[in-house]
Amino acid sequence: MTARDYLTIDDFDMEGKTVLVRVDLNVPMDPEDNILDDMRIKSHIPTLRDLEDARVVLLAHQSRAGKSDFTTMRPHAERMSRYLGKEVEYVDDIFGSHARSRITSMKKGDVILLENVRFYAEESLERSSKAHSQTHMVKKLSPVIDIFLNDAFAVSHRSQLSIMGFTEVLPTGAGRVMEKEISSLDRGIKGGECPCVFVLGGAKVDDSLNVTDNVLSNGSVDRVLLTGVVANVMLAASGVNIGKANMDFIESQGYLDQIERGRKLLDKFDGKIGLPIDVALNDDGKRIEVQVEELPSDQLPINDIGLETIVAYSKEIRNAKTVVLNGPAGLSELDPFALGTHEIIKAAVHSEYSIAGGGHISAEIRNLGYEDRFSHLSTGGGACIDYLAGMVLPGIEALRTAAARYRNNP
Ligand code: 3PG
Repeated sequence: MTARDYLTIDDFDMEGKTVLVRVDLNVPMDPEDNILDDMRIKSHIPTLRDLEDARVVLLAHQSRAGKSDFTTMRPHAERMSRYLGKEVEYVDDIFGSHARSRITSMKKGDVILLENVRFYAEESLERSSKAHSQTHMVKKLSPVIDIFLNDAFAVSHRSQLSIMGFTEVLPTGAGRVMEKEISSLDRGIKGGECPCVFVLGGAKVDDSLNVTDNVLSNGSVDRVLLTGVVANVMLAASGVNIGKANMDFIESQGYLDQIERGRKLLDKFDGKIGLPIDVALNDDGKRIEVQVEELPSDQLPINDIGLETIVAYSKEIRNAKTVVLNGPAGLSELDPFALGTHEIIKAAVHSEYSIAGGGHISAEIRNLGYEDRFSHLSTGGGACIDYLAGMVLPGIEALRTAAARYRNNP
């Protein structure tokens, strides 16, 4: 997709307009509602600065129903106020009369943040933009809004209500985060020199296997190196007995069925998928290195890739010209198990074009002070990897459709 396919802030006269901006403020939070990493919040500040003459209504989600960090947007509004240097007012409503009357009383320059949009269950249904445009949320909010901007690249791989619904009924464009993601990731894909290596970790096993299948099938990537929970699933798929603690964890996450799928992928892409040769077990917080042949160790969870794997992976990564990292290699929030993630990050900065996506790995990159050494740090996890894998992101597709409609009938 080129910049011509969608509209941006520059295509509209924003002066005095009421602009609804879907942002992604989904951040790691502790049980006391403290924000642990605010990169995503900060990332939207350039968009807000370019909307200084407008009335800005922000719409966002935090986590998902059922998770411990599924909570209110109040802390996000406070943090954003600090970065913006003026108040971002938290409004305890999404599209009810309280939200609407606050919107209609806004003055030029005001910025408000509505409540967690996923508190409204219909938000999380994945449907077409047409179906979403018929919902109460769109019908109630759109009459008090002039322009819709999607700046939430990180959730644009989901065809959810607040990403899709307004694009049907309002003039629609992309915010600055969305623009930067599209242009930087496109540069990675198009300028992506060989060898190109994807290093996939973290806990979203199904997403990682989707990407593995996709990039190896279309030949855009030479090797996929696996770490994290997805590596454990694939070790099990390759016949390694990874032990009860690890199998129980995979089952608790609903990923047992991915083992059979993993077997098929290993058969299909013989030699193209890298698996750990050793792992680090967590023995009451202590790091214990074992070869995969020495498994199982029934009570001890695998919490990182082992030293020999780190050396082998780092060598491949250093030799690659394009490297994409997504998801941590282990439990990087625990010092003894951050080693794999840190070493992979250090190896990746040597390649010509390096991209990292996903909250945890980006947080580690910042902890190491390596932010500026990456070509692009994506705000997206699943969205980034889907985009790089060549999948069509519904939220971006909706921007394109809306632009075509607007150009035909401004
Ligand atoms: C993310 O954190 O990747 C985005 O905010 C999307 O969140 P989700 O995976 O809960 O839809």
